[in-house]
Amino acid sequence: MRQEQNDLVTRVGPGTACGALLRSYWQPAALVDEFDPVLDPRMAGRPVKAVRLFGMDLVLFRTAGGWGLLDRACPHRGADLAFGRAEADGLRCPFHGWKFDAAGACLETPAEPQGSRLCERIRQRSYPVLERSGVLFAWLGEEDTAPPPFPEFDCFVAPATHSFAFKGLWHANWLQAFEVGIDPAHPSFLHRYLQDEPLENIGENAAGKQFRSASAGAVEGEQWPMTRIMREFPRPEISFETKPWGLQLTSLRPMTAELTHVRVTNAVFPATFVIPLSETLTITQMHVPVDDTHTYWYSFFTSFAGPLDREAMRGQRRQFIDLPDYVPRSGRHNAWGFDPKEQLARTYLGMGEEDINLHDQWAVESMGPIQDRTREHLDTTDKVIMANRRMLIKAIDGVKAGATAPGVADPAQGDAMLGPDTVDGVAPAGEWQQWWVRQAQAKRAAAPWLARKLSRAEPA
Ligand code: FES
Ligand SMILES: [Fe+2]
Repeated sequence: MRQEQNDLVTRVGPGTACGALLRSYWQPAALVDEFDPVLDPRMAGRPVKAVRLFGMDLVLFRTAGGWGLLDRACPHRGADLAFGRAEADGLRCPFHGWKFDAAGACLETPAEPQGSRLCERIRQRSYPVLERSGVLFAWLGEEDTAPPPFPEFDCFVAPATHSFAFKGLWHANWLQAFEVGIDPAHPSFLHRYLQDEPLENIGENAAGKQFRSASAGAVEGEQWPMTRIMREFPRPEISFETKPWGLQLTSLRPMTAELTHVRVTNAVFPATFVIPLSETLTITQMHVPVDDTHTYWYSFFTSFAGPLDREAMRGQRRQFIDLPDYVPRSGRHNAWGFDPKEQLARTYLGMGEEDINLHDQWAVESMGPIQDRTREHLDTTDKVIMANRRMLIKAIDGVKAGATAPGVADPAQGDAMLGPDTVDGVAPAGEWQQWWVRQAQAKRAAAPWLARKLSRAEPA
């Protein structure tokens, strides 16, 4: 990739072409949990939080009627509204008392003479906010244009009992974060355990045990952990299909003449992947730029079977990630916890067995704040990454020329935003296609909340 192209796809601040494309999509701005006084005592009585997105400084706050997201600099003389006074109907600047509602309307300028109508001429830039599956989404597109419909993906329609959201900060550019996630070859290496653990030791919700879970289907009557398949069959045959939301990825790992491992995942354009965590649990992970060199990932865990123990899932992750800013304890400052002895004896990477998210963090951050793509050498396993970059550059150019951003941001595609389905399993080699579709259908049919949703949609 040429330097100009790398700059084009990685720079997302105000006025950039890639930033304009990404702002066409609903973007995660905060977890609802960040406003829970139990998790962050500063929120007791004052639900106000500074947030940074796409190199812009904003303030997010809760009012009696909902959520507000405003530019941080007060339109009077620029003081910082993140220090504002929280009131039931808005946020008040402590400098001279100007008050704004969630839509950015100026409600009061209390130092002005009685009868002043200054307020009517003042508006602070505000951004629409939606709450979905425990996350507050912001729409940062052009003022006075309408946001696209919110996609009806499974992770966003699952009820609170069956979903859990968490996030974490990575010190690197958004695109390399996403490109690690959509790489189907890396689990065979980066996440490899040199020994297996008995499947009965793996709890459904165990943090970071992603590839310890069983793959669906059986080999000679025995279920295999995903990690054993990944380790013993490290050369996936990767293919992809274009879908309304982006790319559906298929990785085949032929095991015997009769059996093949099949893993189906999704790259939802521009920065979300959907992968199976177990037979009944998926992870949808979004990557949102804080600025060019910092990215928050937001993970949505969605259960297609029983309810999730959110308290336990949060507790497990808090062992590795510190609130209130969701900063991982390990990182470049401690060499990501690297242990050379572990690398010799237990794992391929040497950064622990409990938190596989840290493995991905190392891959993303060790490339540097912005990966120098002029020096890379892509191989055959990178075909998805290449396809995604082609889509990205085309979409940047399209939006620059006035076209609608593709996929989830295109209102014409709204009805096509279903699923997307995933699988990880051992299938009969000759009919893996039918096998995985049946598998996905059975998973959806068994989801209590999905069945209800489908029956509601039936004509009366
Ligand atoms: S700077 Fe905010 S009210 Fe004056
Ligand atoms: Fe990974």
